[in-house]
Amino acid sequence: MNQPILEAKEIYKSFLRLNNQKLEIIKGVSFGLEAGKITMIVGSSGAGKSTLLHILSGLDYPDSGSVIIKGTNLFQLNDEKLSKFRNQNIGFVFQFHHLLPEFDALENVAIPMMINGKSLAQAKRESENLLELVGLRDRAHHKPSELSGGEQQRVAVARALANNPSLIFADEPTGNLDSLSSSKIHELFQNLNKKLNLTFLIVTHNPELVKISDNLYEMKDGLLTQKK
Ligand SMILES: Nc1ncnc2c1ncn2[C@@H]1O[C@H](COP(=O)(O)OP(=O)(O)OP(=O)(O)O)[C@@H](O)[C@H]1O
Ligand SMILES: [Mg+2]
Repeated sequence: MNQPILEAKEIYKSFLRLNNQKLEIIKGVSFGLEAGKITMIVGSSGAGKSTLLHILSGLDYPDSGSVIIKGTNLFQLNDEKLSKFRNQNIGFVFQFHHLLPEFDALENVAIPMMINGKSLAQAKRESENLLELVGLRDRAHHKPSELSGGEQQRVAVARALANNPSLIFADEPTGNLDSLSSSKIHELFQNLNKKLNLTFLIVTHNPELVKISDNLYEMKDGLLTQKK
């Protein structure tokens, strides 16, 4: 592997249960993410996949260990700098899209751009282009409740692309979609990977989605094992 775009070293994470029992979920994961490739993580429910993805993308802190993305050590940044770094470098697609219900598709894509300092006019222009890219130009002024599940997920992908990130993290992006909508998401990921040279890290249970992975890992007993 070339110099990885993301390098995680010795990540540990445990949760304290309500009864004060300590639950060790991630037990020393070290991992390099290959730039420009589609990497996936599979594993049984409760294995710690979402927890790991949140840590690797700077949405959550580990108990110990480091994550370096493009030379930046995430956990050495203060909260403000970390969210700025995330906003500019990372796109995140959640299992449930988390679109803002009171805003239309275009606005949902434009908001992270405006947070990043773009004018309303520019953000709207670029958002239109992104909606075009995911095949939803004609749904730009629909609110999430006026979109199908697959369409909502494609808006979420467009939103993840808002600030030209180099890295996209996705947690079960096809988890609640039918097979047709799922295959549209797969195609979209492959196109984005090829066209924009985006790096993907995707957690999935979907065997069809796994087929398009370049690298595949299994999360088990708190550790990652490479399968492909
Ligand atoms: N805040 C928390 N407090 C206590 N335990 C937690 C907390 N968050 C997660 N866990 C536990 O950590 C384990 C891993 O959770 P995680 O969500 O990472 O699993 P997962 O591999 O993503 O599972 P799934 O495939 O079902 O989404 C689970 O057993 C869960 O109960
Ligand atoms: Mg999960």
